[in-house]
Amino acid sequence: MTVTAIGADPTSLSQIDAARGRIDACLVTLIPSADTWPRRLHEAQRHALLSPGKRFRPLLTLFLSKACGVDQDRLVAVMEVGCAIEMVHAASLILDDLPCMDDAHLRRNQPTTHVAFGESTAILSATALLNRSFGIIARNPALSPAQRTELCDLLSYAVGSTGLIAGQMADLDNNSAASVSEIERVNRLKTGALFDFAADAAAILAESPAGQRAALKDFSRQIGLAFQLLDDVKDVLQSPEISGKTPHRDEGKTTLVATHSLAETKAMLMTYLDNAKLALARAELADMGVLGDLIDAQFAFLQEL
Ligand code: IPE
Ligand code: IPE
Ligand code: MG
Ligand code: MG
Ligand code: MG
Repeated sequence: MTVTAIGADPTSLSQIDAARGRIDACLVTLIPSADTWPRRLHEAQRHALLSPGKRFRPLLTLFLSKACGVDQDRLVAVMEVGCAIEMVHAASLILDDLPCMDDAHLRRNQPTTHVAFGESTAILSATALLNRSFGIIARNPALSPAQRTELCDLLSYAVGSTGLIAGQMADLDNNSAASVSEIERVNRLKTGALFDFAADAAAILAESPAGQRAALKDFSRQIGLAFQLLDDVKDVLQSPEISGKTPHRDEGKTTLVATHSLAETKAMLMTYLDNAKLALARAELADMGVLGDLIDAQFAFLQEL
């Protein structure tokens, strides 16, 4: 899936597209083939993981670690860690779409996993993807034992009952009296936790100094908030032909979009993005590379608001 941003440097965009191609190629190698028994389970995993997503989380891992000056010898490990994050993300989407959660039928322009394969297969394929993501990090020969342990530990928190799962729980509980900061906490957890892990992983892989790692964490916090808010705007404004997803699945939920005007929402989004860019500037990166264009491309829809 190619995302364009007005004014973006075409060379950067082609670098981003090339990296997305390498991510897709790597993902294929990390899960069993569709003819591996039990076939239905592996077909379902591949349906969820290999369908055309934006791959924003692995792209961020890749370009953040490059910007931090990661050792060339470690680029394969960076790619695999980024893909492990994408596997967690795909698992979270399978579960999020279930009838007991958002009850969505369309994702990435194709039937959701439970619609295509049934609920039990969807739940098992999500669990299998989640499980394997830890193995991919744990076995990585380019990482030191200390790095593998730290990454697995951090990922378990990012996904776990004080991270993504906590956020999803709160999202489904839907506190109708939630304040802005309570809604932001839900967004920071259900979506931001994986972005935080992507930034932490980039810093760990690049062996960043503490100040740089802290600045990257500030960056990921703001990007996570911005990403979920934009997604909520799209849920309201975009047709399924454009988003590839069942729309209005968050209708009735206490989101920032539901509690604010479009102009206020746009202002909040701009503030998150400005804060994210300031945090990146504080990170004193060796070379920003295509990071600016990657972010602008992901948030191109803002130009239409
Ligand atoms: C959708 O994520 C779910 C959210 C956390 C907002 P993406 O917008 O990254 O979905 P894909 O991976 O591109 O399909
Ligand atoms: C999803 O948020 C967050 C997850 C942890 C999966 P949404 O429910 O808004 O994501 P979409 O819009 O279905 O992709
Ligand atoms: Mg949801
Ligand atoms: Mg949803
Ligand atoms: Mg959404």
